Amino acid sequence: MTVPTGPAERPAHFTMTEDEVMAKFPARARGFELLHKLGNPKHVVAPMVDQSELAWRTLSRRYDAHLCYTPMFHAKSFADEKAKYFHEQWQTDGEDRPLVVQFCANDPDILLNAAKRIEHMADAVDINLGCPQHIARRGRYGSFLMDDWDLVSRLIRRLHEALAIPVTAKIRVFPDVAKTVAYARIVEAAGAQIITVHGRLREQKGHKTGLADWAQIKAVKDAVSVPVFANGNILYFEDIQRCLDATTADGVMSAETNLYNPAIFSGKVLPTWQLAQEYMEICREIPTNQSYIRGHLFKLFRYSLPIHTDLRQRLVEARTMDEFAGCVEAIKVRLMADAAAQSSPFDLDAFEVDEFGYRKYPHWICQPALRFEHDKEHSKSKRLLNEAQADPKPAASTAEQTTEAADSEANAGGSAEDDAADCSTKRQKTAAT
Ligand SMILES: Cc1cc2nc3c(=O)[nH]c(=O)nc-3n(C[C@H](O)[C@H](O)[C@H](O)COP(=O)(O)O)c2cc1C
Repeated sequence: MTVPTGPAERPAHFTMTEDEVMAKFPARARGFELLHKLGNPKHVVAPMVDQSELAWRTLSRRYDAHLCYTPMFHAKSFADEKAKYFHEQWQTDGEDRPLVVQFCANDPDILLNAAKRIEHMADAVDINLGCPQHIARRGRYGSFLMDDWDLVSRLIRRLHEALAIPVTAKIRVFPDVAKTVAYARIVEAAGAQIITVHGRLREQKGHKTGLADWAQIKAVKDAVSVPVFANGNILYFEDIQRCLDATTADGVMSAETNLYNPAIFSGKVLPTWQLAQEYMEICREIPTNQSYIRGHLFKLFRYSLPIHTDLRQRLVEARTMDEFAGCVEAIKVRLMADAAAQSSPFDLDAFEVDEFGYRKYPHWICQPALRFEHDKEHSKSKRLLNEAQADPKPAASTAEQTTEAADSEANAGGSAEDDAADCSTKRQKTAAT
């Protein structure tokens, strides 16, 4: 499929010209207008199944997240008015803006029906074109649509021509940058008003996650006229600016690091118990599925629970809000004692770095999940590449990271995530559309 350049080459599923679309939706923002309407967000919380739920978005917004995406919803189940799915999954409130709602789908009409249910409660609808999990292959959605550009175009176009709010898309990259760029142009031509580029290949998942390629993101940014969000390789606050510089993207999206450090966008370095307590207070106000709560607490306390294994077990067994809150309080007491027992107090400005440039924070400080065992050589060279693009004098922070977010702790705790964390869950193992 070629990029349509004029009416003669317009694909059959483009039933309207751009002028007709604009006339139909005169108030609907496009491209950079949309970005402006969203508040020119630089800090974007990624869509995360079971983890970017309302309570977590609320916490992240308090720490300088400018824009949040919902978890991916399955369009078919979401559109079904008889199914419980919509009521189980959909949560928002008056403070939850700006908000992008994400769907996976492979049928344009079903996608539109799903999106129509929330078009008055969100700022845009995003299509997940990046999920690499087996469940996505079986359901034929996410990154498996990278093999069917015509369907990708039809999904986007259906929303562009019929939805009251703008459509956006989140893509992965191909090994060949020219192919990535051609794909992004198809996505743009169909009507996507913001493109998020997760700079990893479809194959980069689980233990093969490795680094995102910022050069590919930059190539897309150079090639399209709509705003681009860069996704991948954010470990520390300083990485955000490095990513913006390297990719020239309009905003930076973080997934995994936001889960381990919900204050990442604020630049604050905070104790895990503080964020955990605040999250629990939010969950008292906003009813939240206990498996989401458990998943978040396991991640926040990732580096402490292997030390305090009795508390880990208590967290596994917690079932009620009071039990979760009791766990957090008990962990807090233990971690404060650990902090007090240090010979010298933790000094924010004097952290050490290891041989790879990762910061050595104490276990009670929010910090990213790191990968040491996988792809070391590959990651190291890529890291240097990214640093060279961003900064001739590499900073102490690095861009290597693990996206094995659905780590064993969370699974041990009963979280519904699969091993590589892009988007499939046990609970959501329903076919897309
Ligand atoms: C727990 C978890 C759940 C995720 N769920 C989704 C999802 O629902 N939709 C999606 O497009 N990507 C999903 N992803 C992928 C992220 O949005 C993001 O593209 C990926 O993790 C790379 O960003 P990062 O390097 O900041 O982690 C998920 C990632 C994690 C860690």
